Amino acid sequence: MLCISSVSALETEGSQNALSPGESYLLSVWHHRLYLYSAAALLFGVWFLLKVALNKKSFSKDVGPLVSKAVRRSEGSDAVVHLSGVKVFYGSQTGTAKGFAKELSEEVKTLGIPAEVIDIKDYDPDDRLSNECTNMSVCVFLVATYTDGTPTVNAEWFCKWLEEASTDFRYGKTYLKGLRYAVFGLGNSVYVGHYNTVGTNVDKWLWMLSGMRIMTRGEGDCNVVKSRHGSIQADFLAWKVKFLTRLQALAKREKKSCSGNSTSGSSCQNMKKEQEEGRGSACTAGQQL
Ligand SMILES: Cc1cc2nc3c(=O)[nH]c(=O)nc-3n(C[C@H](O)[C@H](O)[C@H](O)COP(=O)(O)O)c2cc1C
Repeated sequence: MLCISSVSALETEGSQNALSPGESYLLSVWHHRLYLYSAAALLFGVWFLLKVALNKKSFSKDVGPLVSKAVRRSEGSDAVVHLSGVKVFYGSQTGTAKGFAKELSEEVKTLGIPAEVIDIKDYDPDDRLSNECTNMSVCVFLVATYTDGTPTVNAEWFCKWLEEASTDFRYGKTYLKGLRYAVFGLGNSVYVGHYNTVGTNVDKWLWMLSGMRIMTRGEGDCNVVKSRHGSIQADFLAWKVKFLTRLQALAKREKKSCSGNSTSGSSCQNMKKEQEEGRGSACTAGQQL
C-alpha cells in the first residue's frame, strides 16, 4: 500500500515536471485561488469607497453653493422689512381725533404710502391686532381722554381688551412683538390728574406687549394756556410733521437697503436691530415734541 502511494506521488511529481511553464503557472494560480479572491474583494472594496468619496465631493462642489445660496437668500428674505401701509385708528367723541385721523391719512397717502382710517370700535383687537405684527404696517392711535381719564365710547372695548391683555399671561409679554406703532393723545390739562390718561395708557399697554414705538407719544392739549404749541391743532401739527418725517425715513431706508442691492441683507438686519433697540429708549428720549 505504502509502495502504491509513493509511486503515485512520484507519478504526480513526474507529471508536474512534465507540464509546460504556462500550465504550471495556471496550476499555481489555481492553488492560490483563495488569496486571489481575497485580493480581488479588497480591490473592489477600495474602488467602491473611492467612488463614493468622489461622488460626495462632486455633489458638494456642484450643488453645495446652490444650497448655501438658497439658505443665504432665505435668510436675507427673513431680514427684509417692508412698509405696507399706515392704519390710523381713532378714539373720538366730538370728532377732533376723527378729523385728525382723516388729515393724517391724506398726508400719508401723498407720500405714496397706503393709509386707512379706522374707527377703533370697528376693529376687534383679539382677532386682528396680532396680524399687524407681521403685515408690515404702522399703526397710529389718535385717542381722546374723557371724564376721570376714561376712553371715548368707541374706544372702550379696545382699551379694556388691551389693558387686560397687557397683564394676561395667556397672551404673553411678546404678544405684539413686531407691531410698529405711534400714539397721539388728545386731552385737556385742565383735568389735572387725568390729563391724556388714555393716550398714555394705550402707549404703555402696547409697549408692555412688546409693540415697537416708532416715535414718542404725542400730546394734544385743548387748554390753550398750557398747550405747548398754543392749541391742540398746533400740537397735532407739530407731532404730525415729526411722524411723517419718521415714516418717510422708515420707507426710504427700507426701500434703499432692502430693494435687492444688498446681497447679505445686513442693512435690513441693522435697521431691524436699530428699531428694536429704539423700543424702549430712543423713543422716550430725544424725540420729544
Ligand atoms: C366732558 C369732558 C370731559 C373731559 N375729560 C378729560 C379728562 O379727564 N382728561 C383729559 O385729558 N381731557 C379731557 N377732556 C378733553 C377732551 O379729551 C378733548 O376735548 C379732546 O380734544 C376731545 O376729543 P374728541 O373731539 O375727538 O372727542 C374732556 C372733555 C370733555 C368735554
